[in-house]
Amino acid sequence: MDTIVELCKRRGIIFQSSEIYGGLRGAWDYGPLGVALKDNVRAQWKKDMFQLRDDVVPIEASILMHPRVWEASGHVAGFTDPLVDCRNCNTRHREDQLPTNKSGEPYCPNCGQAGQFTESRAFNLMFRTFVGPTEDSSAQVWLRPETAQGMFVDYAHVQLTSRKKVPFGIGQIGRSFRNEITPRNFIFRVREFEQMEMEFFCKPGTDEEWHRYWIRQRYDWYTRLGITPENLRIRPHATDELSHYSKGTVDVEYRFPMGWGELEGIANRGTFDLTQHAEFSGKDLSYYDQAADERYIPNVIEPAAGVDRTALAFLVDAYAEEEAPSVKGGTETRTVLRFHPDIAPVKVAVLPLSKKDTLTPTAKKVNDLLKPHFVNVDYDEAGQIGRRYRRQDEVGTPFCVTVDFETVEDDDAVTVRDRDTMAQERIPIENLVRYLTDRFTAARS
Ligand code: GAP
Repeated sequence: MDTIVELCKRRGIIFQSSEIYGGLRGAWDYGPLGVALKDNVRAQWKKDMFQLRDDVVPIEASILMHPRVWEASGHVAGFTDPLVDCRNCNTRHREDQLPTNKSGEPYCPNCGQAGQFTESRAFNLMFRTFVGPTEDSSAQVWLRPETAQGMFVDYAHVQLTSRKKVPFGIGQIGRSFRNEITPRNFIFRVREFEQMEMEFFCKPGTDEEWHRYWIRQRYDWYTRLGITPENLRIRPHATDELSHYSKGTVDVEYRFPMGWGELEGIANRGTFDLTQHAEFSGKDLSYYDQAADERYIPNVIEPAAGVDRTALAFLVDAYAEEEAPSVKGGTETRTVLRFHPDIAPVKVAVLPLSKKDTLTPTAKKVNDLLKPHFVNVDYDEAGQIGRRYRRQDEVGTPFCVTVDFETVEDDDAVTVRDRDTMAQERIPIENLVRYLTDRFTAARS
């Protein structure tokens, strides 16, 4: 993990928030390449959820919601972690995450002392704030700890206005906030993060089949985008692990450097949420099934993923070090992020062989030609060409396009270098967009 954190910092992908003030624990900023990486994660999720389907629609709900939402959802009463303090060194920990020694006693991961903990207290993870100028309980609201409740409280309105029939889904991507006791492992567990969640409403009795369907869909999404299947697994929750709303949950887990960790939870939430919101709001949230002439509360299947954790899994999975020919002769270690082209932050780099005036106008022309077709094209003319290839490899750019003297003086063609094989091909400029588009399409099949 340290290698990934160092690379992310050095290349401005992800780094500590408020770094010049010493940082804030559990808060990270995304630089230009990190933004591009996250944009790609979101774009691929939206493509799969909305663009390629007719039965899922998007919403964008407000982060601040009516406080009763969180009473109905069970978060005010139950969204807690068990908190303990070490009496020896005064550090704070989650009781359920304490390591144990050979005799099975939990010990402090900071000072190593066993059996020195305070009584465990239930600590609510929701961040609290106030709307308007008065800071009393009537003005108190919460920063949402999950995006899911937006879909439940908007369910009836969206169903009616989009004229969707059950089974159908509502999804959104957005920020969520949790006052995690121990944020850790880089962007794996943070206090402010982004979720990609979808609530799929289906007829009671069909829920288990839809649950299996969404587990398969979501697993395939990760592998299609390049995650190594050996690093991905499906883990059903044990009964005592299930959330209060769940009839059954499986996690899609990734083998992170610190061990297996949840990437996404896929839960069968039954009728819990709509029933609760109907009761708390006094509104009828049942569905009238015209074809069957019956009324029911739909069951809900929820694939809930994190943008940050997914970005981390893509970074870890793509990272490779290998021996490659050195710019100085001999070999050297090449660091390469073997991102799937749809996930790579930079899609194509345009590299004039030298900074000479003879090459610049043509290289700029090639850059302008590519920009409308590929979301992130990088233009880099500084330094030796071999070094520039390495810089692009290190951030996972799938293709480098080199403009050289032959381009200008002779053949109106450029050299396209493949990140993974390092093979180079001469392509006429007039065919370049088509050639690269075909390469991206081929990577998807
Ligand atoms: N609506 C259900 C729900 O929120 P969850 O398993 O608590 O379920 C879903 O969260 C996903 O959100 C997780 O699988 C993870 O990817 C992401 N996530 C949750 N807490 C996070 C945190 N503190 N930091 C980063 N990502 C987090």
